[in-house]
Amino acid sequence: MKKLRVHALLGGLVLAGLVSSMLWVGAQPASADAQAIWAKKCKKCHGDDGKGDTPTGRKQKVKDMTTAEFQKKLKDAEITDMLLKGKDDAKESGHKKPISGLSEADVKELIKIVRGFKQ
Ligand code: HEC
Repeated sequence: MKKLRVHALLGGLVLAGLVSSMLWVGAQPASADAQAIWAKKCKKCHGDDGKGDTPTGRKQKVKDMTTAEFQKKLKDAEITDMLLKGKDDAKESGHKKPISGLSEADVKELIKIVRGFKQ
């Protein structure tokens, strides 16, 4: 009896997962796909490792995200605002305008990526 309930529960979970992954197709990228968003929308300036050592990153003087100083100074709320609303005093073209197509959930996941660069 107990076993049966566990199976029903697992089945339900699998079904819920399938349905939600189907819903994401064609919609905005899922927050779990933050790595893909990074590759598509951030990597060209910030690089795979957050050091900004890319042609565009060097040109725009992107900061190295791996340093403790960078990580300490930057608040999550600032990142959120910058990505969703843009930052008036941003240097160069990087973040004057909001990054298009990001949800708040995406931003939360992207912040995890940014924090993950800390060495
Ligand atoms: C066209 C180049 C470009 C792209 C694309 C880009 N950035 Fe940036 N980013 C910059 C530059 C240049 C800076 C330097 C800080 C500034 O402009 O004030 C920066 C700074 C940052 C900072 C630090 C902000 C601060 O106040 O020091 C974060 C966090 C960041 N970017 C995250 C992202 C994320 C996440 C994405 C993708 C969704 C992204 N960036 C895409 C160019 C870019």
